[in-house]
Amino acid sequence: MALRYVVTGSRGQLGRCLVRRLSAGEGGAELAAAFSHAELDISDEAAVASALAELPGGAPAVLVNAAAYNQVDACEGEGADDAVRINGEAPGGLARVCEAVGARLVHVSTDYVFPGDAREPIPEDAPPSPRTAYGRSKLLGEERVLASSERALVVRTSWVFGPGRNFVGAILRQARLRRTGELTGPLRVVDDQRGHPTYADDLAGGILALAGALEESGEAGGIFHLCNGPDEREPAPITWWDFARALLDLQGYPELQIDRISTAESGAAAPRPAYSVMGCERAAGLGVRLRSWRQALTAYLASPDLRVTLELQDPAALDAAPQASA
Ligand SMILES: NC(=O)c1ccc[n+]([C@@H]2O[C@H](COP(=O)([O-])OP(=O)(O)OC[C@H]3O[C@@H](n4cnc5c(N)ncnc54)[C@H](OP(=O)(O)O)[C@@H]3O)[C@@H](O)[C@H]2O)c1
Repeated sequence: MALRYVVTGSRGQLGRCLVRRLSAGEGGAELAAAFSHAELDISDEAAVASALAELPGGAPAVLVNAAAYNQVDACEGEGADDAVRINGEAPGGLARVCEAVGARLVHVSTDYVFPGDAREPIPEDAPPSPRTAYGRSKLLGEERVLASSERALVVRTSWVFGPGRNFVGAILRQARLRRTGELTGPLRVVDDQRGHPTYADDLAGGILALAGALEESGEAGGIFHLCNGPDEREPAPITWWDFARALLDLQGYPELQIDRISTAESGAAAPRPAYSVMGCERAAGLGVRLRSWRQALTAYLASPDLRVTLELQDPAALDAAPQASA
């Protein structure tokens, strides 16, 4: 019988990719319902309970929570309360509702639960110690989920790009404005944080594979790390500068200069982890491995997901694109 899924936060980068894969019936799965922020606020536990109770066909087997408050710098100030409510407390409510109806919760978390001082890939059981309000709020969410249910999964990922606002959209806009002469001078990109960028669509596929494997075996959940892998040719972790360089080379801007700057020079309000590479051994043990970040980036740039990003971050890039002739 098909595993029935519910997705919350369905209009975010990960949410859209989950909905697309589930709507296509990937791995025999079925989309029972998808709720955007406007349709269901995950911090309203009573609303979550009635949404699941009212589902035609009964409770789902799995609920994937792709909703989050991701504005890292705002979490330090005006977004502090939202961060705790959405990232910290709401996942606990989702876990309680899922337990009550017998559904497995898959909750998504982040490398920001770690301090960023590791020197080799961080294993799933490494002690978290966040240095930002965002990281603390996400860790609270993890703790609430894991305390509520042995079946629940916490899937940590890093540096997500997909159909939505992201680093790729910001860099492509900067590049286009320089080509048109609206901006001058080199781009400036941080070169002292190391990590693995992760395509939301690959993450979605990995989450469905993990949840499917655990449902089939009846195993408990726990913490999993899931990120795109290293580049086959240059396996060292990359910086945001490396990622921007690869992106601009792939998109036809090889001549565009990018200056390397430090995190301190970037002026961000919240500190950033200097090292975010996570070891994904537990997922690999279940046969779930994501391809390299470079393969993933190449696929994203050729996919309709890039258009979604540009619509949000640089609509002028779409207006300038050649129209297909009838
Ligand atoms: N983006 C990254 O670089 C990154 C890195 C590591 C981990 N992660 C984690 O990966 C997961 C997916 O991230 P993403 O990049 O797909 O995020 P995203 O694109 O920002 O999407 C998050 C979605 O959650 C929705 N949302 C916010 N508050 C909500 C609420 N109270 N109830 C219901 N929905 C709500 C947002 O809707 P509105 O926009 O309408 O508010 C948005 O559609 C998150 O758990 C995130 O913490 C992300």
